[in-house]
Amino acid sequence: MPSRRRSKTSRILERLGDRSIVLVGMMGCGKSAIGKMLARKLNLEFKDADEEIELAAGRSVADIFKEYGEPEFRRLEERVIARLITEGPMVLALGGGAFLNDETRGNILKNGLSVWLNVDFETLFERVMRKPGKRPLLTKGDPREILSDLMAKRAPIYARAELHVKSVSGTKSDMRNHLLNRLDEHLALAEKEDAQ
Ligand code: S3P
Repeated sequence: MPSRRRSKTSRILERLGDRSIVLVGMMGCGKSAIGKMLARKLNLEFKDADEEIELAAGRSVADIFKEYGEPEFRRLEERVIARLITEGPMVLALGGGAFLNDETRGNILKNGLSVWLNVDFETLFERVMRKPGKRPLLTKGDPREILSDLMAKRAPIYARAELHVKSVSGTKSDMRNHLLNRLDEHLALAEKEDAQ
């Protein structure tokens, strides 16, 4: 069937193949909330890397940080994501720091479709402050300053993701639809470039 006659979701799924859509970006950017909605629309499985780490460790992310420290959390995170990336296609939401790991990023760039959800600072800050205990990195000083420093340091690394999607105003469904459109465009363009 000519591609214009297929639905957007079937075009995306066909072009995605076995790859997972991997959502990266700062804490509070909507990786999990939008990721779940995207997965539902595409009829793909959704997994949240932090939840998978919690299952593997038998404790919450906050407790892993408290009991074992951040380096141990990062080791676990690397191992869990290395497994998840082989289990696609799915929509996979990563924790905000995961894409900074060279091994993890290399693996995702090679085997997945990485998408940076790029959300402005004030929106992120307002969202993360709704559940302050959930983000152990923000408890070690002034959360505004910490979040702003993290964002400045991480943005150039998130920018290595294959697709960049800025948030749009409106509801979560608006953002999900915007993401679907951007994925559709991106995959069509990539297919065209591959054919040349
Ligand atoms: C982290 C973000 C968190 C979680 C951990 C570390 C980070 O995930 O993985 O607290 O380094 O930014 P979310 O991005 O889902 O909040």
